[in-house]
Amino acid sequence: MAAPGVVDAEGFARAAAEIKAWPGYQPTPLRQLDGLAAQLGIGRIYYKDEGGRFGLGAFKAVGGAYAVLRHLQSKLGGNVSVGDLLAGKYRDRTQDITVCTATDGNHGKSVAWGAKLFGCRAVIYIHAGVSTGREQAIAAYGAEMRRIPDNYDASVRACAADAAKHGWQVISDTTWEGYQEIPRHVMHGYGVMMGEMLAQLPEGELPTHIFIQAGVGGLPAAAAGYLWLEYDALRPKVVVVEPEKADCHYQSAKAGKPTAVTGKLDTLMAGLACGEVSPLAWSLLDKASFAFMTVPDEAAVFAMKTLASGIGGDEKVVGGEAGVGGLAGLIATAIDKPARDALLLDAHSKVLIIGSEGATDPVLYEKLVGAKPEAVLAA
Ligand SMILES: Cc1ncc(COP(=O)(O)O)c(C=O)c1O
Repeated sequence: MAAPGVVDAEGFARAAAEIKAWPGYQPTPLRQLDGLAAQLGIGRIYYKDEGGRFGLGAFKAVGGAYAVLRHLQSKLGGNVSVGDLLAGKYRDRTQDITVCTATDGNHGKSVAWGAKLFGCRAVIYIHAGVSTGREQAIAAYGAEMRRIPDNYDASVRACAADAAKHGWQVISDTTWEGYQEIPRHVMHGYGVMMGEMLAQLPEGELPTHIFIQAGVGGLPAAAAGYLWLEYDALRPKVVVVEPEKADCHYQSAKAGKPTAVTGKLDTLMAGLACGEVSPLAWSLLDKASFAFMTVPDEAAVFAMKTLASGIGGDEKVVGGEAGVGGLAGLIATAIDKPARDALLLDAHSKVLIIGSEGATDPVLYEKLVGAKPEAVLAA
């Protein structure tokens, strides 16, 4: 069968080899939620818990920081290794390189962390909806912060304009005309998580579905591409889940072409508050997805509480607002007979979920769940 395009096995393999050499690398856990699966009347739920990823709290750690690394390697030329960069061997040159990005929080944190790790400068653009907690978490890695008093897409444009003016490199997770290479590195970086996940599945287990949340689409595209390359015709059905208030993939699927949604995009699921698809990610998702769906914010809060309570003896899990998007979509589908039938969910379904963040905003987490993340984990 035809390859998915956009991402490839070589890109995934290189990213995995580089990222596994970073200090503190450890696979994140894959949690099997049997209690919840039984309650929903499906076979298995496998939840890849990215809350502990490199101490950054989200899967994004393996995307933006990897693209920063690749940018520095290409600027320095030759075979510059991760080890040399970490040891500061090229610091006199890297310190004059500036990377920048717009972010809802997690991607910017990854870029700022990568810049610190590999020795260059970072300028990070945030929009009006990004909490001060998230802002401080990024600034803690030494990045210069710039807040744009508008939505995410406006912050993307402000970042691109300043980069052009000052000769900085934009490290974006979204693509636009003439700008694809860096976001493709970001997507290949996400593959490290997919590789771990498939290796952690029980021997011979063949997943039937993945319910996966989308912002600009880099995450679901990377996941869909990886699964396609790995399983080919036997690949699981990809269900892309978005907040009702930021449903650019859903609207694009309905229109049959990339379609922007406007407005405040003021969903609680901050990491998913994107009004425009990444065209490159979309080109893959358009052909690789089985379905697109939306969930209201309350569904995310319900999913967070469900994880925190540990249904039917399941271990208690801390999932952040954007991180539980896919799970919220699964729950909403499983309990609604027509939706369940339409998405071919049944008692034999084996569903992959990527819990793409932990409590990246602990104050908000406590407000929504009614317990501190530490208390949930200790219980
Ligand atoms: C926690 C979390 N999950 C999912 C996503 C969606 O990823 P993408 O924008 O690549 O679709 C994001 C994006 O910021 C995020 O922060």
